[in-house]
Amino acid sequence: MELKNKLIAITGAAQGLGFAMAKSFAEVGANLALIDMQEEAIEQAAEAIKKLGVTARGYAVNVTDESAVESTFNQITADFGQLNGLINSAGIMRDGMLLKVKEGKIVDKMSKQQFQSVLDVNVTGTFLCAREAAAKMIETGSEGVIINLSSVSRGGNMGQTNYSASKSAVATMTVTWAKELARFKIRTGCIAPGLVNTAMAAQMRPEMREKFLQSVPAGRLAEVDELGHAARFIFENDYFTGRTLELDGGTRV
Ligand SMILES: NC(=O)c1ccc[n+]([C@@H]2O[C@H](COP(=O)([O-])OP(=O)(O)OC[C@H]3O[C@@H](n4cnc5c(N)ncnc54)[C@H](O)[C@@H]3O)[C@@H](O)[C@H]2O)c1
Repeated sequence: MELKNKLIAITGAAQGLGFAMAKSFAEVGANLALIDMQEEAIEQAAEAIKKLGVTARGYAVNVTDESAVESTFNQITADFGQLNGLINSAGIMRDGMLLKVKEGKIVDKMSKQQFQSVLDVNVTGTFLCAREAAAKMIETGSEGVIINLSSVSRGGNMGQTNYSASKSAVATMTVTWAKELARFKIRTGCIAPGLVNTAMAAQMRPEMREKFLQSVPAGRLAEVDELGHAARFIFENDYFTGRTLELDGGTRV
């Protein structure tokens, strides 16, 4: 898909990878619908993107809220008259061990809330936005692309029961949607980064971060621009669908 003058919606676009991907798409002339629950920050992000010479609007919405997501996608197509792509970048991490054991005694458990909150944003939010975006693409007869953000953690990472489960779920939904939506000329793709240089990575304890880096053959974190480049590749290559692109510096075993 040629990105110039296309309309791409990006969730989690107020900062981090979502914002970096928005910049990367604006640089090749795509217009952007930027979605995030941070009201002020998403307006600022839209202003910054507009300075790159494209049209951009911010939409303040919690991606776990079904009716808010529905009305947001109605509003996006009312505002722009088209929708050609969605990148599901909104995501959270709430790490913890399944059980904490000291001297043979259980001292803590991952709470249901800690587990569920991550599934709600990373899986349900991705599902709701993809469902509404696909509906709009079909209704407006637009070819389209949907990208989900997985992670190297999808293989099962210590301290990340919730996050790993969510990131393997989005990789699987990518495959399902490729099969279901191909007849509407909608492709899907998933990106599974290792650790990227963003606020999310900064939440990691320094010793964990150091340990993680030792397992990265590339010897460094990914830069946000490299994620933008990967997302553009998925959009621009019409034979790419249903697969996860592993952008992890060789980390995965
Ligand atoms: N940064 C990394 O190293 C890394 C690695 C692998 C995968 N990922 C994935 O990439 C995606 C983006 O990560 P990031 O580093 O940019 O994170 P980030 O924390 O910097 O940004 C996430 C954005 O999502 C928004 N958001 C969170 N919950 C939301 C909700 N319920 N509704 C609407 N918006 C919401 C936040 O406000 C924030 O702007 C996430 O899905 C993450 O799991 C990140």
